[in-house]
Amino acid sequence: MTATPTAALSSFPFDCNGLALPEQVEALYEQPVTKVRTVAGAEAWLVSSHHLCKQVLEDSRFSLKDTAAPGAPRQYALTIPPHVVNNMGNITGAGLRQCVLKALNPKAPGLEEWMRQTAGRLLDDLVAEGAPADLRNGFAEPYSAQMHCHILGLPLEDAPKLLRSLDIAFMNSPRPIEAARLNWDRDIAHLTDRFDDPATTGLMAELAALRNIPAYAHLTDEMLATVGLTLFGAGTISTSAFLTMATVAFMTRPDVRNALTHESVADALEELLRVNLSIGDGLPRIALDDVQLGDVLVKRGELVLVLVEGANHDPQRFADPHTFRPERPNAADHLSFGGGAHYCPATALAKKHAEIALETLLERLPEVRLAVPEEQLVWRTNFMKRVPERLPVAW
Ligand code: HEM
Repeated sequence: MTATPTAALSSFPFDCNGLALPEQVEALYEQPVTKVRTVAGAEAWLVSSHHLCKQVLEDSRFSLKDTAAPGAPRQYALTIPPHVVNNMGNITGAGLRQCVLKALNPKAPGLEEWMRQTAGRLLDDLVAEGAPADLRNGFAEPYSAQMHCHILGLPLEDAPKLLRSLDIAFMNSPRPIEAARLNWDRDIAHLTDRFDDPATTGLMAELAALRNIPAYAHLTDEMLATVGLTLFGAGTISTSAFLTMATVAFMTRPDVRNALTHESVADALEELLRVNLSIGDGLPRIALDDVQLGDVLVKRGELVLVLVEGANHDPQRFADPHTFRPERPNAADHLSFGGGAHYCPATALAKKHAEIALETLLERLPEVRLAVPEEQLVWRTNFMKRVPERLPVAW
């Protein structure tokens, strides 16, 4: 149910510049459940305090699946088929959860070594070309996309192609995007072809093998390919944006730079996740019932947006929240991986991915620095993640 538009509502998201927390966030703690206007023009409740964000994520009366229901108020237009919003639910319902979780295990034989070698090789290439280099397009993105190809068992040459689709799939647009649908159909067809390719290994080969098992006969190739494509998309965009923004923080924040060396990355990872500004939207839920949320009675059918960066900088939860302090005892209480039923299933993989990339980067290039004034970074607009288009660095 979308209420009548009111001119005075602030628009959300606030700001795509990832150098600092948007200034509006501080004021939100006074009123941690606030009405905003979304990109799609709907009204939504923006939730910003740590305990209320956690309450929303952990309460099954706030549904992710129902954000895709026809007529529901939207944060932005869907860029995937509506049923795919309930991706992990579909995966579980199809009996594929264990198979997927196994593929997301960073302890898989040889995976850590593969990550270290790949990060090293990409940095070697940048060093061989000479400074300045683009740390997002030449390191964070290819490293992330290639790791997902490796896990899925796709050839590495699929990485740039699948990656380009994500520039559109993660747009936040008021209206449906034709290119998103075209990319989706083409990428699903491509992954379906990979099922019959003898060179396919990893998760994709495991999914292909299920096609010969009668218990899985009801699963179509398209359903199986959707598993691969959604893991590539969700995983690559999130890991690449987190890694990019962790390097931005290192290069622009003295407190991060002073605390981080290649030897301290592992211990600082939770705090890097807490201060990270890569999530540029709100985690959306639809209220299935009237629910009291702090001072606000959220009505059935209304849209609620969980502001992860609000929760992560809430002074009630984190003392001196704007300072990077890896030793803070509760750094791991951040909500950067969500919470409750939809808690990210790949947290261990995501942490290992970033840890190895940052260790390798800071070991090879400890003096890495922005090679343009920070105010010259161009921030991607109308996108679900905050990322600079280019990240020119020297060392
Ligand atoms: C630093 C990296 C990552 C971050 C910050 C991140 C963050 C998140 C967050 C916040 C959610 C919750 C969404 C919600 O509640 O609406 C989530 C869910 C999810 N993530 Fe991640 N993620 C990361 C890496 C990955 C990777 C590597 C994969 C897979 C290869 C992945 C797959 C998923 C999936 C499938 C869900 C949906 C879970 C569900 O609905 O039950 N993520 N992630």
